[in-house]
Amino acid sequence: MRIAVVGSGYVGLVAGACFADMGHEVILVDNDQQKLAALRSGQVPIHERFLPELLQRHRGKKLQFSDNLHEAARASTAIFVAVGTPPTNSGDADLSYVESVAREISGGIDGYKIVVEKSTVPVYTSEWVRKIILRNGAQADSFDVASNPEFLREGTAVTDFLFPDRIVVGADSDRCAAVLQEIYAPLSDGSYYKRADAIPGPDRAQIPPPVIVTSTKSAELIKHASNAFLAMKISFINAVASMCESVGANVQQVCQGIGTDSRIGPRFLNPGIGYGGSCFPKDLMAFRSVAREVGYDFRLLDEVMRINEEQRQRFLRKVRNALWTLRGKRLGVLGLAFKGGTDDIRESPAILLVQSLVQEGCVVAAYDPAAMERAREVLRSNVEFVGSPYEAAAGADALLILTEWEEFATLDLPQINRKLRYPIVIDGRNLYNPEMMAAHGFTYYSVGRAPALPEGLPTGDSRGNQKI
Ligand code: UDX
Ligand code: UDX
Repeated sequence: MRIAVVGSGYVGLVAGACFADMGHEVILVDNDQQKLAALRSGQVPIHERFLPELLQRHRGKKLQFSDNLHEAARASTAIFVAVGTPPTNSGDADLSYVESVAREISGGIDGYKIVVEKSTVPVYTSEWVRKIILRNGAQADSFDVASNPEFLREGTAVTDFLFPDRIVVGADSDRCAAVLQEIYAPLSDGSYYKRADAIPGPDRAQIPPPVIVTSTKSAELIKHASNAFLAMKISFINAVASMCESVGANVQQVCQGIGTDSRIGPRFLNPGIGYGGSCFPKDLMAFRSVAREVGYDFRLLDEVMRINEEQRQRFLRKVRNALWTLRGKRLGVLGLAFKGGTDDIRESPAILLVQSLVQEGCVVAAYDPAAMERAREVLRSNVEFVGSPYEAAAGADALLILTEWEEFATLDLPQINRKLRYPIVIDGRNLYNPEMMAAHGFTYYSVGRAPALPEGLPTGDSRGNQKI
């Protein structure tokens, strides 16, 4: 199948590379010349496992790069739209890129083609895309608009794409659904997984993945509802973690107790400093906004967002409680990316926390295995970027863990202890066992668990409070 993918961001680039690996002829279209030049010259603009291998494998062969959308549309049977849908000031999704792409595509429709929404868009977008393409001269029976939402997570995007829990095909005609099903046939008939050169799958992959065929509108809703539900799960456990802190219970034990109920499930139940990233914050606002527009007051989502914001404020209070005053304090910070395994800092709670700490007069020594280059663009004064967790700890009044990178869970604790000015660790991601940290001589604060103190120190924090 000849496929055009418009937009070479996280979603478009991964989708394009994976479609090529599934055997399709792909043209990846972008209007950013610099990005195109980098991709053509072999650079990989994002930190994503297996993406360099796939780009290397297909670049210039099954995967071409172009800035000419009109020609790419003309040459393709399916055109996937994966341009950004950033939030406007009011929280709605800004669909102007989607609209301009739809306008340009219309001129390239010279036979039956399908236009597929891959970006996360509000529920009525497919109708608008159809109207815009018709307005610009395409024949009504020469195209269909479909929705094929993507559930990939950054860091595991390639394996999420090739080993999905499900493939959602949202189409309003059999003809359109058949084209999408043909595109995904290498996954749904299992043939991709038998290939010797297939990308290795995760342990719990369901092979072959089921295909769920729905109406276009249902598919658009599935995407927003999935992200909103996952964000709700995180806010729920963060709220429970606050309860745990108030009563001296352990959120980890509570998670185990509720997550083993198969109706609830253990995943996305990790408490922390709140969710971030390019999707959850934006999609929650957009879903809230589209609900309002169609006449439903989805206040549950307001609460999910409020708890998320509050979670960061709680963490700041924890730092203050541990250190008393902040002006002039030196803090080591581990993690700047919005989560482990990525260099993406969009809506990163770690970055927002560092900004607040700097505003309160702290000096920060920060380390992240992948996101420092990007972070440098937004964190300027009073932040030093250092080369290792141990350098971050050197001479610091406390060490803060803000991103769940695997390497932060296996630190050489005696070395960290020696480097710190005071052996205080404030862990926003619960990477360590509190008793073990106390045994290593740390005063250790985490989320939803009682603080741990080295033996011999009075219990309670510096203000004498038992609770944090
Ligand atoms: C995507 C989806 O678009 C978004 O809806 C979803 O919620 C998250 O993933 P992402 O891939 O991260 O976003 O977007 P971004 O990194 O902004 O990439 C979009 C690409 O489209 C950029 O390379 C940009 O240059 C390109 N673009 C944008 C065009 O080619 N044409 C345009 O008109 C606008
Ligand atoms: C998310 C969705 O998971 C994915 O299906 C969708 O396509 C895009 O948005 P992503 O933004 O890459 O993916 O990251 P995800 O792994 O979902 O994490 C989002 C945020 O939630 C991160 O800040 C992460 O640290 C946080 N999180 C996640 C928690 O705080 N606790 C958890 O248990 C899981």
